[in-house]
Amino acid sequence: MSKSVNAELKEAFQGVSDNFRGTVDDPYPLYKKMRETSPVYTGNFMAELGVPNIAGSSKDRPTFTLFKHADVMRVMRDAKTFTSGFIAEGLGAFFDGLILTGMDGEAHKRARALLAPVFTPSTIRQWQEEKITPVLEDEFVKPLAASGKSAELIDDMGMFFPIRVIYALIGFPEDNPDEIKRFAGWAMDILVGPQEDPEKAKIAGMKAMAAAQALYDAMLPIVQKRREDGAKGTDLISRLIRLEEDGTKLDDHEITTFVRSLLPAAAETTTRTFGSAMALLLTNRENLEKVKADRSLILKVIDEAVRLEPTATFKIRQAAEDIEIGGVAIPKDAMVSCVVSSANRDEDVFDNADQFNPFRKQKPSFGFGFGTHMCIGLFVAKAEIESAMNALFDHMPNIRLDPAYPAPVMTGLQLRGPRAVHVIWD
Ligand code: HEM
Repeated sequence: MSKSVNAELKEAFQGVSDNFRGTVDDPYPLYKKMRETSPVYTGNFMAELGVPNIAGSSKDRPTFTLFKHADVMRVMRDAKTFTSGFIAEGLGAFFDGLILTGMDGEAHKRARALLAPVFTPSTIRQWQEEKITPVLEDEFVKPLAASGKSAELIDDMGMFFPIRVIYALIGFPEDNPDEIKRFAGWAMDILVGPQEDPEKAKIAGMKAMAAAQALYDAMLPIVQKRREDGAKGTDLISRLIRLEEDGTKLDDHEITTFVRSLLPAAAETTTRTFGSAMALLLTNRENLEKVKADRSLILKVIDEAVRLEPTATFKIRQAAEDIEIGGVAIPKDAMVSCVVSSANRDEDVFDNADQFNPFRKQKPSFGFGFGTHMCIGLFVAKAEIESAMNALFDHMPNIRLDPAYPAPVMTGLQLRGPRAVHVIWD
């Protein structure tokens, strides 16, 4: 793999982190105060904290921000009253095709039903055995373990394995790692689309559009070729080509746009969640030892990390009718910003909500969303992180935080996670 492509990717990752960092690194005391004093806040709270987001884009649509678990749950589970179609508005070709996040109603339901079979836990288990674990072991963790006695988990593997894995699962040719990273760079350009500064927003928006087009142009021939070759493989593109539900088939344009939409959704989110889960686990020796001894606990660690430090920290919906939440009137067309990071620590639902406790009784939280738009790839993400952790525990004996570096710090009011996790082993 070429150095410059790695450097470009790191730069793009940093760009995304900087763009969404916001004005405070630890927002939790602030969210607690909001849950107590103003759980349904009139205003775009996340924008006030310096996080660019789509809610404030039209002056005619006031924004309301929700902090309580029950209110966030109400919005996320009622996709009829709280819609997502605005995400696709005005983006034209950028959002033309099968892009779930911006779809509503029957169209969304049909698309989810069509895609569901390729994302079931059993399909993902098969992928995990055949692909995910071997890639993590052989291409990332074993070489890293053999290279010395210390590593930085984000730069040395976390930034790259989700891209490597998801692109293999999608079925992109595996003999061109630089091209895969170029795709990843474009995917990050799409993520940096929303910006605070209007001038910057214009440039970033154009860059995002160009990146989306470049990705489409590069992917369409891959899909077409796969169809020509009979689409017999277990990769996502082949599976999508073979899908049929009530006689509906996906055409090459739909497959290309769906697969393209996965790239910003699947890679960087997994990187940051992996970083958070490792950082939280390594910070508590007792938890770490228990998990190393009983690997079935890894999935609990991931769920708890996604509750306590969700990477996707807030979700926006639009009210389809006049409605009231917590005594606050929300007019039709208003934007409703659900602060997942706050709801996930609501003391009315979680005991010792600020504590990382993988052994707590799990209750619904919103780090992978909730309701009809809940993350379709969550089993993929969990399988990757599980395989990564297993490989680290197997090949890096007594892995622990490196005392030569400061403990990992979570940053990012959106797309949150630690920028560095330094470890050593025996
Ligand atoms: C740890 C990593 C991940 C996190 C934290 C995450 C988070 C989320 C969240 C919060 C949503 C809900 C969006 C909404 O309510 O509007 C979502 C949706 C989605 N995610 Fe993930 N995701 C992750 C990994 C993945 C992966 C690996 C894939 C693909 C293989 C994926 C594909 C999608 C898609 C297609 C949607 C849209 C679903 C819909 O609107 O119906 N995600 N994700």
